[in-house]
Amino acid sequence: MSEQQLKEQIISGGNIPRHVAIIMDGNGRWAQERGKPRVFGHQHGMHAVRAVVEGCRDVGCEALTLYAFSEENWKRPAAEIKVLMRLLRHYIERERNNLRENDIRLQCLGRMEKVAPAAREAMEEAMEYTSSCSSMVLNLAISYGSRAEIVDAVRALGREIATGKLDPGDIGEEQIAEKLYTDGLPDPDLLIRTSGEMRISNFLLWQIAYTEFYITSVLWPDFRKADLYEAILDFQKRERRFGMVKSSV
Ligand code: FPP
Repeated sequence: MSEQQLKEQIISGGNIPRHVAIIMDGNGRWAQERGKPRVFGHQHGMHAVRAVVEGCRDVGCEALTLYAFSEENWKRPAAEIKVLMRLLRHYIERERNNLRENDIRLQCLGRMEKVAPAAREAMEEAMEYTSSCSSMVLNLAISYGSRAEIVDAVRALGREIATGKLDPGDIGEEQIAEKLYTDGLPDPDLLIRTSGEMRISNFLLWQIAYTEFYITSVLWPDFRKADLYEAILDFQKRERRFGMVKSSV
């Protein structure tokens, strides 16, 4: 089926995932297969980033979250970190106009204070530049770790308790969710991981309680709109029960 036919099938199927999250994996292996350094894979991964942003926007998703750089990624060789930060900055500088034209708001999730100033400033500027866009949110998880996010949320709640603003007995799921970096966004409906790995890797642990997983063996630099659409079509066929039983049984 062509890309266009896949897209039409998704739109006519209704039940579009409101929020898609992606663990972009396999850049290093893709480069290795070609006898190139790992960063070559990251550079080619940018084509896939553009494809999924456009693809999610085209079918009407409200949010797309990309796991671009984890807390654990700080342990990679300094040269690789430098290239990843440069790619992020270039992506943001090059795409910010395009994002605004397509009414996409950019948001970054993670401990941004650890990010190099040049990249951080570019991100902050682009977030401001797209702040009034409302058709879709593009979340880049950078310097992100889900446990760290939960730690930050617990600290924020603790501060409110210490100042008497909050009673511990009033803490429920909603109060915790409000303190996460994803406050205001629906939980992901669909989580895609490329390169065949079956791990969560400290990504959105709280938010994926009822998320549908889709694992593909495609390596990230090869991932294109048609692959995204296949994942969404697969999602649309699933029966989501959220712990309940089927209403007809
Ligand atoms: C995983 O592949 C990928 C990453 C750690 C980085 C992903 C980043 C990009 C595609 C570039 C910047 C992104 C944006 C959103 C502008 P890996 O290196 O772990 O691959 P491997 O498992 O094959 O070694």
